[in-house]
Amino acid sequence: MTIFLLTVAGYLLGSIPFGVLLTRAFGAGDLRQIGSGNIGATNVLRTGRKELAAATLILDGAKGAVAVLLARHFVPQLGDHAAMIAGAAAMIGHCYPVWLKFRGGKGVATLLGLALALAWPIGLVFAAVWLGTVLLLRISSLGGMAGAVAAPVAALALGYPVYAVGLAGLAVIVLWRHRENIARLRAGTEPRVGAKKGAA
Ligand code: G3P
Repeated sequence: MTIFLLTVAGYLLGSIPFGVLLTRAFGAGDLRQIGSGNIGATNVLRTGRKELAAATLILDGAKGAVAVLLARHFVPQLGDHAAMIAGAAAMIGHCYPVWLKFRGGKGVATLLGLALALAWPIGLVFAAVWLGTVLLLRISSLGGMAGAVAAPVAALALGYPVYAVGLAGLAVIVLWRHRENIARLRAGTEPRVGAKKGAA
C-alpha cells in the first residue's frame, strides 16, 4: 500500500462522523441542531446520553489510532513519518469530512487517539493535561486545546522529536477549530461540563 492510498484511507476513516451517526441511530436527535452543533463527544453529552458520548469519544479516538496502526502495518519501511501522515489524514478527515460538506469536528479525540498510537507516553501526557484541565475547570474545550498543545511539547521532552512538527501542526488545527469556543472563553460564556441540555 502506498503512502498516497494510506492518506486517502486515513482521511476517509477520519471522515466517519460517529457522533452524528450514533445520536441519529439511537434517537438522540440531530447533533448539529443541539448545543454547540459540534459532532464530538462533548456535544453528544449535551443530549444527556452519556453512553453515546463515551462511545463517540472512543470511536473518534480509534479513527486516529487505526490510521497510525495501518501505516505501521502496511508501510513499515516508511517509518514514523508515514504513521504521522496517516494519523494526520484521519484528523483532517474528522475536522473536514466529505460526508458533511467538510463541516466536521474539532479534532481533540482523534488527535488523542493518533498520539497514543504514535507513542503512548505522548498520548498519556495529552490525556492527563486534558482530563486534569476538565476536572479542574469543567470546560471541555479548554482541556482539549491544552492537551493538543501539550502533545508536541511532550514529543520533544520525551524523546520523540520526529513527531513534534506534525503534532504542532495538528494542535494549530485544533485551536483554529475552537475559534468560537475561544471567543466564548474570552467573553466568559463558554459552558461548563454538566451544564444544562441545549447550552452551547
Ligand atoms: O472536543 C470538542 C470540545 O473541545 C469542544 O466541544 O461542543 O463544547 O464546542 P464543544
